[in-house]
Amino acid sequence: MTRLPNPRDKFSFGLWTVGWTGIDPFGVATRPALEPWDYVEGLAEIGAWGITFHDNDLFPFDADDAVKDRIVDRLLACTERAGLTIEMVTTNTFGHPVFKDGALTANDRAVRRFGLRKILRAVDLAARAGAETFVMWGGREGSEYDCSKDPHAALDRYREGVDTVAAYIKSQGYALRIALEPKPNEPRGDIFLPTVGHALALIAELDHGDIVGVNPETGHEQMANLNFTHGIAQALWSGKLFHIDLNGQRGLKYDQDLAFGHGDLISAFFTVDLLENGFPSRPDGPRYTGPRHFDYKPSRTEHMAGVWDSARACMTTYLMLAEKARAFRDDARVAAAMEYAGVLDLANPTLDPGETIESFLSADEKFDPDSAAERDYGFVRLQQLALEHLLG
Ligand code: GCO
Ligand code: MN
Ligand code: MN
Repeated sequence: MTRLPNPRDKFSFGLWTVGWTGIDPFGVATRPALEPWDYVEGLAEIGAWGITFHDNDLFPFDADDAVKDRIVDRLLACTERAGLTIEMVTTNTFGHPVFKDGALTANDRAVRRFGLRKILRAVDLAARAGAETFVMWGGREGSEYDCSKDPHAALDRYREGVDTVAAYIKSQGYALRIALEPKPNEPRGDIFLPTVGHALALIAELDHGDIVGVNPETGHEQMANLNFTHGIAQALWSGKLFHIDLNGQRGLKYDQDLAFGHGDLISAFFTVDLLENGFPSRPDGPRYTGPRHFDYKPSRTEHMAGVWDSARACMTTYLMLAEKARAFRDDARVAAAMEYAGVLDLANPTLDPGETIESFLSADEKFDPDSAAERDYGFVRLQQLALEHLLG
């Protein structure tokens, strides 16, 4: 029996996840819309640690300040009563038709100025809620037609927008970091910053990149046919894994946002292994210590009981995988297979300490490519051991 989740696990959920009523491009809602505080109480009951939300998960797009304040106060009070943490806040710059061509990268400058103000107001909200992370997912930043958008200008505007938000955070002294969330497509035909790698490259161009990292989502990398675990590994290696969106995706199709583990399970195993146990050759290397945040959609076939079942499923699957990943790392057969495979040898620098390129080039090393090519790596046996632990 897997143990029940508890707050030390740092599991968190977006209010829009359990709060999704099932509206999709082909059909209307299949579940009632509850109030934000009802979801907060439900999440506390099932053992979550934290919640996250978009500004407009709480109050309507056109709410005035008095309405916003009243709703935010009520949510903060109820979150505190429930003992939950608000770990991340984000903005909705995709729902209203004004953002149909994007917010930060809309061709219309007046829309960009409106969008940027909305984002900055959401930063204030994040600070007020005590969040540590401000996610920026630019779902409408992109195009359907290559001729409709000058990509050079779009990247300039994206950089300007993110830098302005980061500069504002610093100027206000907020203890917040920005996490950019990549996605290849949907709702736009092509979205800017389609993958973790693209987002890291933009961050390297920022003036205030020190407080900007990434929020990779399992399904989004997999929609681009990429290896999600490699994506978060590179973000960790760069010191930029600020947040994470865990969910499930089955292959190259629309963004399924399935419960965690309900997509590529063996990939989920290695994701959890990395998050829980770090890099095999770097026990003291970079580790992810942030929230285990689920961004999924309870299938629209389920009613409210199924919503809570699916939220529990995300956490239980994570805990099961964490147990199995620990056992995998502790297994002497795995250690032997890793040694045979040379997994830890990759951590040895290729050049000797102090070796110059000249001495390297002139070194008289006895190396026979043909006999080295004879080497067996045993990767399949290692993978099979992982699978045995996973199926255990
Ligand atoms: C998606 C995205 C969104 C964002 C969220 C945060 O499924 O396309 O994950 O859910 O994470 O809107 O801004
Ligand atoms: Mn998604
Ligand atoms: Mn997401």
